[in-house]
Amino acid sequence: MKRTLYLCGAGNSEGVRLALTVNRNAQRWERIVLLDDDPAKHGIEILGVRIAGGLDTLGEADPQSDEVVNLVARTTDRRWMVRNRIEQFGIPFAALIHPLVETDGASLPSDAIAYRNSTIGSLSSMGTGSVAFMGAIVGHGATLGNGCIVAPNGVINARVRVGDGVYIGSNASILPELSIGDWTTIAANTVVTQDIPAGSTVLGVPGKVVLTLEMKLRMRAFRNLPQAVQRDLEQRIKPAA
Ligand SMILES: CC(C)(COP(=O)(O)OP(=O)(O)OC[C@H]1O[C@@H](n2cnc3c(N)ncnc32)[C@H](O)[C@@H]1OP(=O)(O)O)[C@@H](O)C(=O)NCCC(=O)NCCS
Repeated sequence: MKRTLYLCGAGNSEGVRLALTVNRNAQRWERIVLLDDDPAKHGIEILGVRIAGGLDTLGEADPQSDEVVNLVARTTDRRWMVRNRIEQFGIPFAALIHPLVETDGASLPSDAIAYRNSTIGSLSSMGTGSVAFMGAIVGHGATLGNGCIVAPNGVINARVRVGDGVYIGSNASILPELSIGDWTTIAANTVVTQDIPAGSTVLGVPGKVVLTLEMKLRMRAFRNLPQAVQRDLEQRIKPAA
């Protein structure tokens, strides 16, 4: 049994509940604490779990006996940023998989997060830092890149290929065998019927690209991402020589 699980991001009470369920089922940690950078929240309890301080509290954690989970999941860029901060402390990330979610035949990272009633299909894979919320479906043979968020009841059908940092809104559906480029946002309730280039925002039934990578770079929509990722996205709109 590990000593402490640090949950980062007190805005996600479903994540706290998932951690408590996992621990009730498998007794993985002696104690669970929350960390959040909003000082107004310090000392408050969520489902009996205390917000012990800001993310810098991880400086007191021990990589041998403690683990951490990134609960931040409102947007993929913020999730990515918080992950980068956590990584600096060298504390290993824990997986949180609801005990009733089957994962046989799927390839999951050591920090996979799958909430209750999510489906992780056989022969599917999820990248580091990706999360499937309640009722989300990762279809069989589908691949999800790093740092993706599948919101409640989002459906990634069979053999869909999803890039890094993609946000799939609640009740959105991506039809089988399509490709979704890196850092795309799929709006809630959208049905994606064609391949989507990187950095798009897609909305509607059928889904239309309402914002392109070029427009979003102009809006500085990716300013929170690491320079290397921003440069990579900028390269993609340069015309071929
Ligand atoms: C696509 C999305 C990211 C856009 O967010 P945003 O940039 O803040 O955009 P806004 O909310 O300002 O909306 C812009 C316009 O699109 C419309 N719109 C936004 N999302 C929509 C959706 N899913 N379906 C239909 N129209 C939508 C808004 O009504 C607004 O219309 P208007 O210009 O006529 O007033 C967001 O609306 C969305 O769908 N997020 C997913 C939320 C989700 O699934 N959360 C799960 C956690 S429980």
